[in-house]
Amino acid sequence: MKDPLIEAARQSLESAYAPYSCYKVGAAIESSSDKIYTGCNIENSSYGLTVCAERVAIFKAISDGERIFKRIVLVSSQEAPPMPCGACLQVMAEFCDEDFEINIIKDDGEMEKFLFKELFPKPFTIEQGRRK
Ligand code: THU
Repeated sequence: MKDPLIEAARQSLESAYAPYSCYKVGAAIESSSDKIYTGCNIENSSYGLTVCAERVAIFKAISDGERIFKRIVLVSSQEAPPMPCGACLQVMAEFCDEDFEINIIKDDGEMEKFLFKELFPKPFTIEQGRRK
C-alpha cells in the first residue's frame, strides 16, 4: 500500500530551492487532524537565512491553524539521507509529543524510523503557553 506522506514528500522535493548546497529536501507532515502539509528547503545567498524543509512544512501547517503533529517523512535528492537539524528539532519540540515519528527515506528507498525522543531526548520547553 502506498504511503501518502512519502508521495507528498517526494512531490515537495521537486520544489526545493537549493542552488548553493545542491542538496534538496522534501518533507511531509501529518497533523492531528489527519491533514498533510509539505515543505522543501529554501536556501538564500545569505546562507544563514536558509530554512529547512521540516520547518517550512511545520510553519505552513501552523499558519493554517494546526498545533499538534503525528508523523513526518523526509526525502533528499542525494545519497546522504536527511536528518532534522537542531533548529528543526527545537521547533518540533514546541508542537510534537515525544512519540512523534520521524521517518527518513534512504537512498535505497527503505524507510528508517525514529521517535522524536530518540533524536532529541532533552528539549527546552516551557509548558505554560505551548500549543495555544
Ligand atoms: N536540510 C533540510 O532541509 N532538512 C534536513 O533534514 C537536512 C538539511 C537542508 C538545509 C540546506 O538547504 C541543505 O539541506 C543542506 O544542508
